[in-house]
Amino acid sequence: MRTWCQTFYPANMKSNNLAKRTEYDVFNERLSLALCHRTKAEVSAILGVNPRTLRRWEVRQSRPEYHALDAYNRNLQRLLPFSQNENDSGSFRFIDLFAGIGGIRAAFEEIGGACVFTSEWDSYAQKTYAENWSNSHRIEGDITKIDVLDIPDHDVLLAGFPCQPFSIAGVSKKNALGRAHGFHDETQGTLFFDVCRIIEAKEPRAFLLENVKNLVSHDKGKTFSVIKRSLEDLGYNIYYRVIDGAHFVPQHRERIMIVGFREQVAFDFEAQSLPAKGQRTMKDILHKTDGSEPRLDHDGERFFDHKKNRVQPKYTLTDKLWEYLYNYAEKHRAKGNGFGYGLVYPDSVARTLSARYYKDGSEILVYQGARKNPRRLTPRECARLMGFPDSFRIPVSDTRAYKQFGNSVVVDVVRHVAKAMRPMLEVEVLQPELPLRRGTNT
Ligand SMILES: C[S@@+](CC[C@H](N)C(=O)[O-])C[C@H]1O[C@@H](n2cnc3c(N)ncnc32)[C@H](O)[C@@H]1O
Repeated sequence: MRTWCQTFYPANMKSNNLAKRTEYDVFNERLSLALCHRTKAEVSAILGVNPRTLRRWEVRQSRPEYHALDAYNRNLQRLLPFSQNENDSGSFRFIDLFAGIGGIRAAFEEIGGACVFTSEWDSYAQKTYAENWSNSHRIEGDITKIDVLDIPDHDVLLAGFPCQPFSIAGVSKKNALGRAHGFHDETQGTLFFDVCRIIEAKEPRAFLLENVKNLVSHDKGKTFSVIKRSLEDLGYNIYYRVIDGAHFVPQHRERIMIVGFREQVAFDFEAQSLPAKGQRTMKDILHKTDGSEPRLDHDGERFFDHKKNRVQPKYTLTDKLWEYLYNYAEKHRAKGNGFGYGLVYPDSVARTLSARYYKDGSEILVYQGARKNPRRLTPRECARLMGFPDSFRIPVSDTRAYKQFGNSVVVDVVRHVAKAMRPMLEVEVLQPELPLRRGTNT
């Protein structure tokens, strides 16, 4: 028999219907859920109200005053258990922001999470995402337009947000006064601001933010210090580390992983050692021409001609393009610059696959012998280079697919971090940190 809790939680958390939820709806949901897991005495103590008031709120005979709701909601949120619900496919809930094609999601589903909200505004990325991930929620668009009240409660927030400079000039002192968190003024107008406003409102137990390595040095280090300060201001303990994809796949791809926990936890990036770099090389991801290339129903012959055992000829560079790339590189070499194409061989580790790969493919060109022009990777090979399994479907054009994989993450890198985060999500919920405003209960 399903308990009341089991029926209540998913209905509210997963439906994601976009009828406007009010802060009172959030309060009622959190109160009901807290009462599933804690005694009335515990809940009234944490809210600082007497049990009779609590009872009236529970049966909706009365409700808290509006100005106190925020504090009550925060403290109720702290009481909620680390989600464990048999009606979810996962043991914790996460949201997937700037979701792209779901590379970060892949790793967090693997460690037992259930995705309860997705935002990605590019319709082609949405198409790939929808084809590969089964959702009981729809994929939302522009995150800047989404009200936090429409985002379900969750344990973990995931975001590979685009890096933008913060222009903090012109912030008046007056503006800054009276704000609980500095990010309001320092990051306004950036997508990081949206990440912060969601963290502020939803207080997930943890988050993982992913970005390019240069985030640390961007704008002479100012960008990163604003990011770190903003997250710490929001009450989180922050850890970060640059990890190279070459530990797992044959691609140098250095990305910063920023992890935050609301509670004091013993998180340690070093807890699990990384495999040595370069153990996997291009031969592990290139199409096999010895007859062993698997035939994938969803790819058919799109990338590989299984009868002739060769990559489709359209991926070989035309004479014109190869000549151009070759001459361009020679010109720069003569001047002592290192610019140019990157040829890869079976034992190579490739350069970083970029979102511009569709243009000429120059950063990773597969050597095909002295008599033949090199070729680009096929989108399937790009998927493998990013750690996506062959079951991952590619329902968009090659151009779109190159962009999507070039924007994505090395799934194995995220898996590594997700596994280190997983035990930390189990720690006991602590006492509320924010003092409640007194004399506000009705
Ligand atoms: C660096 S990519 C992240 C890719 C993702 N981690 C993955 O594994 O595919 C950033 C994504 O954010 C999306 N994006 C940028 N601005 C957005 C916005 N305002 N609302 C929603 N998505 C946005 C882009 O379309 C892009 O797919």
